[in-house]
Amino acid sequence: MFPGDFLWGVATASYQIEGAYNEDGKGESIWDRFAHAPGKIKDGTTGDVACDHYHRYREDIALLKELGVNAYRFSVSWPRIFPCGKGEVNQKGLDFYDALVDELLKQGIKPLLTLYHWDLPQPLQFHGGWTNTDTVQAFLEYAMLLFKKLGDRVELWATFNEPWCISFLAHELGEHAPGIKDLRTALQVAHNVLVAHGKAVKAFRSENPSGKTGIVLNLYPVHPSSESEQDKEAAILSDCYRNRWFLDPVFKGEYPQELLSVYQKLYGDFAKDYESIQVACEKIDFLGVNYYSREVVSHDPKSILKSKTVKVEAKRTDMGWEIYPQGIQEILVRINREYGPIDLYVTENGAAFKDELKDGEIRDYERIDFLKEHFKNTYYAIQQGVPVKGYFVWSLMDNFEWAHGYSKRFGLFYVDYNDNLKRIPKESARWFKKFLNNEISLEE
Ligand code: BGC
Repeated sequence: MFPGDFLWGVATASYQIEGAYNEDGKGESIWDRFAHAPGKIKDGTTGDVACDHYHRYREDIALLKELGVNAYRFSVSWPRIFPCGKGEVNQKGLDFYDALVDELLKQGIKPLLTLYHWDLPQPLQFHGGWTNTDTVQAFLEYAMLLFKKLGDRVELWATFNEPWCISFLAHELGEHAPGIKDLRTALQVAHNVLVAHGKAVKAFRSENPSGKTGIVLNLYPVHPSSESEQDKEAAILSDCYRNRWFLDPVFKGEYPQELLSVYQKLYGDFAKDYESIQVACEKIDFLGVNYYSREVVSHDPKSILKSKTVKVEAKRTDMGWEIYPQGIQEILVRINREYGPIDLYVTENGAAFKDELKDGEIRDYERIDFLKEHFKNTYYAIQQGVPVKGYFVWSLMDNFEWAHGYSKRFGLFYVDYNDNLKRIPKESARWFKKFLNNEISLEE
């Protein structure tokens, strides 16, 4: 059904799986600091050891091989490369990713490398983190070093994972590191991250014209809870906040006017001191779409966005997120129509469920259903002419689910935290393997 050269893979991120948080010269990241602070992570855990992937990466690549995927998305830990964020390079950190990439290629697996999946070096945070334009400069240095080091072997590069989370979840809502709660700060962070993205893409082009580069956004269809004009207004502003705040700068070099004017009213001549967001609109080769759920909103006069989220009656994952497979189709079709043509990768899709290990088995049939329906809806988008080039399931294995610690399981492989982090294939891993092997279809 899917095109012959389609990339099928799984995704992970450095802080969520690597562990070895202070080994071989690695510096502290904002997530090390955040997780170590009491009360930030729901189950009181940290990523100090995580899945111990740093030491077990060969074993984990063997799992990829066992699944039969032809691609793997991972991220690089910036403080492993630059313990202070800039300046001196930690050779052992570079060696790790060098060996990881070589092993992937040896096994015939194509890497998609994400430069930034949230683990900012803590020394940069002491100077304001992403609110400081020096961080943009440091990011460029870090990105250039990796382009030079791995550009001969890695073809697909993503600058940032989910700028919405980097800015709003971490700096407005304070749920992620560095745990700041201030909208204006979040807007400044979003701006600098977008600028860093544009500049990194430009630098990448001059360094490696044959490689491909893009950015990964978490996108949600935003639906009004009724047909009333006020609810529709609410959905438009929410969509600007969730999606267009990043899509429009990346593809058009401007912020969505509807929301920009709201922020301007709040903060005066918003963004006047910033570098123009036009910089973010550097031509990219692909957009990575992370899709998990949709949002339903209704009018709320008290909120800045004049909207509030409505919890509709629906089946939900263990994260409490509505299971809404047609949303992936809606998003892919919309991006292609409004911002395309552009190659798209589903860089993350998956679900947490309450997996239980019983007699050595994990019978996660809900996850199989979830994936099946999302694969189908992706296929429907392709049928409509949307150039979707690959799909990465989140995640290879259970891991550190940020503020939820290890209490949420997203993996195709179960990680037994009570038994030496043993990886055990869930039923969904077996199903995915059979699907990739053409032994079963999506209709079964
Ligand atoms: C992130 C992942 C995370 C997943 C599930 C995405 O927002 O990129 O790191 O584990 O969603 O919450």
